[in-house]
Amino acid sequence: MTQKNERTLVIIPGDGIGPEIIGQASRVVEWFDRHRGLGLDIKERQLGVNVYEKHGTLLQDETLETIQAADATLFGAIGGDGYDDIPRHVRVETGLLSVRRKLAMFANIRPVVAFDALANATSLKPEVVRGTNMIILRELNGGLYFGEPRGVEEIGDGNRRGVNSMVYTTPEIRRVARVGFELAKQRGGHLTSVDKANALEVGQLWREEVMKLGAEEFPDIPLSHLYVDNAMMQVVRDPKQFDVVVTENTFGDIMSDCAAAIAGSLGMLPSASLSDPDEDGNRQAFYEPIHGCAPDIAGQNIANPVGTILSFAMALRHTFNRPEDADLLEQAVGNTLAAGTRTADIAADVTETVSTTGMGDAILDNLDRLAT
Ligand code: IPM
Ligand code: MG
Repeated sequence: MTQKNERTLVIIPGDGIGPEIIGQASRVVEWFDRHRGLGLDIKERQLGVNVYEKHGTLLQDETLETIQAADATLFGAIGGDGYDDIPRHVRVETGLLSVRRKLAMFANIRPVVAFDALANATSLKPEVVRGTNMIILRELNGGLYFGEPRGVEEIGDGNRRGVNSMVYTTPEIRRVARVGFELAKQRGGHLTSVDKANALEVGQLWREEVMKLGAEEFPDIPLSHLYVDNAMMQVVRDPKQFDVVVTENTFGDIMSDCAAAIAGSLGMLPSASLSDPDEDGNRQAFYEPIHGCAPDIAGQNIANPVGTILSFAMALRHTFNRPEDADLLEQAVGNTLAAGTRTADIAADVTETVSTTGMGDAILDNLDRLAT
C-alpha cells in the first residue's frame, strides 16, 4: 500500500457525462491549487464501464489503493451503455457501491441548499424553496443495499424469487447517528431521524438506538423522528423545517433525489462520503455529485457541472480544512447563478443557456472577480 501523502486528490471522471462535468471541476481544482496554494498532488484514475471494457473489472486494485492512500477523491459518475450487461457479481464487487463499502465511507453528507437565484426555476413555489439549507445524511454502508440474504433464485416452474434485506446493527446505527448529531451541533441546529418504525423491525431498532445515543451523548441537540413516507412529503411541502436528517441507505438515496427538486435540478447537488477517522485522524473521503451518468445527454456538452464543482467545495471544507475557500467557491457559484447563467436543466426563467464548458467559464470568471 502506498504511503499516505498530505493533500493528494484523486480525480476520476467515470462514465457518461462524468468526463464533461469532471472536466469543469478540474479547472476549478486547478484554480484553487494555483491561486490559493493548496499544494495538491493530483492523480487521475478511472472507474466504471470504460474500465470494464478494457480490464473486465469496474475498478482495478491499483485504483482502489490510490483512492485509499489519498486524502480525497473527486468522482464524476458511473454506468450507462453496457452497464446492465456486466455480470452482476462484477457490478456488486467492483462498482461504486463496493468502493463506498470497502473504504468504510458510511456517512454520506448531501447538503440541499436553495440558491436564491433559482427560486423561480424549480417546480415548487419560490416561497417554499427560498432559504432551504438542510443536510440529508444518508447511511451508505448498510441497510437494504448491502444486507444479507440477497440474490435471485430459481423456485421451480420457471419462477424466481428476488431478495434484499434491510439490516442494521447497533454500532452501524450509532456511528451514523453520531455524525448527524455532530453536524447538527456544528450548525447550531437540530436532528430529524427518518425511519419506517411503524412497519419494520429494523426501523424500530433504528429509532430506539438514535434516541438512546441522543440521550447519552447529545442531550442538548433537539431530536425528532419522522416516518419516511411522511418525511418525503414534508421535504417538498416545507423543506425549511429541516436542518440535519439522518436516515437509512435506500431512504436517503430516494429522499436526496426528491430534495433535488428544491435546488432546481439533480445536477445541482454535491455529496461527501466519509469514513470514521483512523488513528492519525485521517478520513477516507469521496466527493461526487448525487446524480448518475445521464447517458441520454452524454457527450453533448450540456450537462450541469455545478453539483460536481460544489462537491469540490465540500472537499475544501471537510478534507482540506479550507472553510474560507469553500465559502469562496460557493459564493462564486451563487454569483454565477445570480447573473442568470444557466445550463439547460435549470433554465426555467431565462432564454439563453450555456454549455457545460460555459458554466465552467462563468464560475472561473466569478472566482477571478472575487479573488481580486
Ligand atoms: C446515488 C446513486 C447511486 C446509489 C447509484 C448510481 C448506484 O443513485 O449516489 O445516489 O444508488 O447510491
Ligand atoms: Mg441516487
